[in-house]
Amino acid sequence: MPIPSQDRAHFLFLKLHSLTGIFPIGAFLVLHLSVNSLRTVGVWQYQLSIDLINNLPFLIVIETLFIYIPLLIHSLMGFYIIFSGKINLRHYPYPRNWGYTLQRITGAVVFFFLIYHMGTTVGPKLLYGKEQFEAAPFLIDIMNREFSNWTGRFLYLVGIVSATYHFCMGLWSFCVSWGIIIGPAAQRNAGIVFALFGLALTALGVATVAEFSLDPLPVDATVEGGAS
Ligand code: HEM
Repeated sequence: MPIPSQDRAHFLFLKLHSLTGIFPIGAFLVLHLSVNSLRTVGVWQYQLSIDLINNLPFLIVIETLFIYIPLLIHSLMGFYIIFSGKINLRHYPYPRNWGYTLQRITGAVVFFFLIYHMGTTVGPKLLYGKEQFEAAPFLIDIMNREFSNWTGRFLYLVGIVSATYHFCMGLWSFCVSWGIIIGPAAQRNAGIVFALFGLALTALGVATVAEFSLDPLPVDATVEGGAS
């Protein structure tokens, strides 16, 4: 097998980074914010969705392959890109340069938000043993507590806005760098479409935070003996 040159290896590195940002991580974000927004429709709809996901066979394998490993790879590569680049806003204060800089900052914010978020959701679930309780009452109880104060709400709002900006700006730069949108007019129009998409995703997340904060309903186990 021919060994790639340094430039080619760097090129492949950047391509893998942009690809993992769209699939599976971006796809997961869209799905995750949509499923959580079911809480605004009704508490039992949300309960059903959590139990459905948590009763999928081989869930831990699916999560590890499609969420945890790609997230870790994308984050480590992202930090490498951040630390190997230079912030040059003072010399080149163009909107596109601001966009890239903000994307790097929000990437780092999302990384730390995720350590907190997974530590308070997935962490306890794995720690207490999934077999000991039914996922929905356990997780809904945790989310009610997360949104019971302004510190929690603020952390989630920052996490949501950072994640949707980071993803939608990434969608745009993905389409430009993979040659999907070519030419200034197409790039400008795509920018407007992705910005609207980002606003819609943010609205889903904010509505979920509002619903949990204003109406913290606990739920019982759907299966008898499934939870205490
Ligand atoms: C309204 C805001 C949000 C709510 C209510 C929420 C809720 C949850 C819950 C309940 C879990 C545990 C799922 C389970 O173990 O079955 C979870 C996990 C997770 N969340 Fe969120 N989340 C929110 C925002 C976000 C954002 C903005 C991101 C991305 C930056 C994110 C990324 C993740 C990841 C990576 C996991 C672990 C994967 C999994 O087990 O499904 N979440 N979230």
